[in-house]
Amino acid sequence: MLDIRPMTIGDLALGRRLVAQAGWNQLEADWRRQMELQPDGGFVAELDGVGVGTVTTCRFGPVAWIAMMLVDEAYRGRGIGRALMVRALESLNANGVRSVRLDATPLGRPLYESLGFVAEATFDRYRGVLPPAAEQSGEPMARKADPLDLDAAIALDREVTGTDRGRLIRSLADEHPDSLRVAGEPGRVAGFLLSRPGRSARQIGPCLGDERAGPALLADARSRYAGEAVILDVPAANAPAAAQVRSWGLRAERELLRMGRGPRVAEDPRRIWAGSGPEKG
Ligand SMILES: CC(C)(COP(=O)(O)OP(=O)(O)OC[C@H]1O[C@@H](n2cnc3c(N)ncnc32)[C@H](O)[C@@H]1OP(=O)(O)O)[C@@H](O)C(=O)NCCC(=O)NCCS
Repeated sequence: MLDIRPMTIGDLALGRRLVAQAGWNQLEADWRRQMELQPDGGFVAELDGVGVGTVTTCRFGPVAWIAMMLVDEAYRGRGIGRALMVRALESLNANGVRSVRLDATPLGRPLYESLGFVAEATFDRYRGVLPPAAEQSGEPMARKADPLDLDAAIALDREVTGTDRGRLIRSLADEHPDSLRVAGEPGRVAGFLLSRPGRSARQIGPCLGDERAGPALLADARSRYAGEAVILDVPAANAPAAAQVRSWGLRAERELLRMGRGPRVAEDPRRIWAGSGPEKG
């Protein structure tokens, strides 16, 4: 019998197993962050008492993100993914969410389309090993963040993404304080970048900013993480960002289709130089 029940911290082992099976990049810390940001937001599919699927939701006021939609390979194609999505959408509806968003893999798309999601944007996932640091010419624009900068970065994030993701940005900055880099005067942030480790590569992003800050922050990350395997999710609409990461030898490995249901959220992809990852855009 199939049962969809709330996710608990006891489900971390199932989450890790399904991520490894799908070849995704998330670590246990990523599952923990999902659960902390939205303790009532995760669901597990159990077939005769055995966990076989997961989904998480995260609410930012009227906007929510769905992520970690994973069904054990051995049990796909029998309605488990659909049952998880229906439960996730019911919970978001009951909590007054109007716009639901997600980044879809090709395997997820037919399911989301059948539930009323429409394509909004494309992100390309770039992967590779960063080349040795290039010589810096002139004064570097990116710098270590000052305590005043976090609030300014959160305000910029809200302006660019049309979503109040302050809790997400704060938890990423708390977990990886050294990874927070900013461009601009203290308290007046023209751009910021965060990154975190992953199973197979460091995820560089979010990186948001104007046309000067974005390239400077990406160049700064390139020299700070030279020699490391990295991934970046770059909006197809931001051609300079794609050109910059391609010039480092990174290759587009797959496409993520950003989909939405309900009123469209106004985000500005030209100021997104790298997304935060498919869990929350
Ligand atoms: C995407 C995923 C969660 C779907 O789970 P699932 O349990 O197989 O999905 P369901 O059986 O509920 O199928 C849902 C719909 O998907 C479509 N679908 C499922 N398998 C399909 C297949 N092999 N070919 C085409 N369409 C398919 C059907 O439209 C189905 O609709 P229906 O209910 O009208 O038949 C699963 O394939 C998976 O875990 N993939 C790897 C991780 C991943 O890519 N997750 C999506 C992230 S966005």
